[in-house]
Amino acid sequence: MSAAPTAAPPVTDRLPMTLPRLAEKKRLGEPIVMITAYDHPSARVADEAGVDLVLVGDSAANVVLGYDSTVPISVDELLMLSAAVRRGLRRPFLVGDLPFGSYEASDEQAVRTAQRFVKEAGCDAVKLEGGGSSVDRARAIVAAGIPVMGHVGLTPQTATALGGYRAQGRTADRALQVARDAVALQQAGCFAIVFEAIPSAVAEALMERMEIPVIGIGAGPATDGQVLVFHDLLGIREGHGARFVKRYADLMDEMIAATSRYADDVRTHAFPEAEHTYSIDPGELVEFRAAL
Ligand code: KIV
Repeated sequence: MSAAPTAAPPVTDRLPMTLPRLAEKKRLGEPIVMITAYDHPSARVADEAGVDLVLVGDSAANVVLGYDSTVPISVDELLMLSAAVRRGLRRPFLVGDLPFGSYEASDEQAVRTAQRFVKEAGCDAVKLEGGGSSVDRARAIVAAGIPVMGHVGLTPQTATALGGYRAQGRTADRALQVARDAVALQQAGCFAIVFEAIPSAVAEALMERMEIPVIGIGAGPATDGQVLVFHDLLGIREGHGARFVKRYADLMDEMIAATSRYADDVRTHAFPEAEHTYSIDPGELVEFRAAL
């Protein structure tokens, strides 16, 4: 049986992703593919799979560090993960997520944190959440020469203020607020923006105003690209996840099954076998035993 056909990536997709190429993709209507990654192996997977943008999201807090929300993750934790991802990437454009509390206080704080992501982890750009004062922070970081990705709609860092992890922009007033934030971030110089968990029709209407690439997650099909969390799409997580998650594999089940087989093999002495062991010259062994 032959493998299911996949959409062939354009030839130019073997070149490193850059901001002009990203803008060109939007202009040509070529869908932009983004996923999160948090370590070297996931970065290698993203690179080999030919994705365009890799985000070291603060979702690492829940997904790989076991926190209850994205709020507790620190700059240092994200820098360590981002540097590991950097070492695994050749082609995709790397975006580091500024965590809660690392950019909101002032433009100076925002620029200092963004500079650390570029200098210490090798990120190409940073992402921050929300409108309001985040628009000023985005403008300041852009002015300091660092590309910024915005993020509107459901912004997990401030989920409590938004009434929990729920879709945003579901009334005309709330949708207008999302629109104002998105346009303000675009005007502040963001190179791209994430729309998270907003009605598809709201995203579609908003696309008429967006000149920069829009990457959706739970925002329907009208956006320029889509992003999913690595562990969600591969099923390396317990539970069902959000409505907008599509699972392309159930690797957690496979990982548990494989690890259980290993445990059984150890307990029954089926592992290691001869092929997993090292030998020593018999004469050397005699000498060793005698000396022991
Ligand atoms: O942290 C994250 O994973 C994100 C994406 C969902 C966009 O912000």
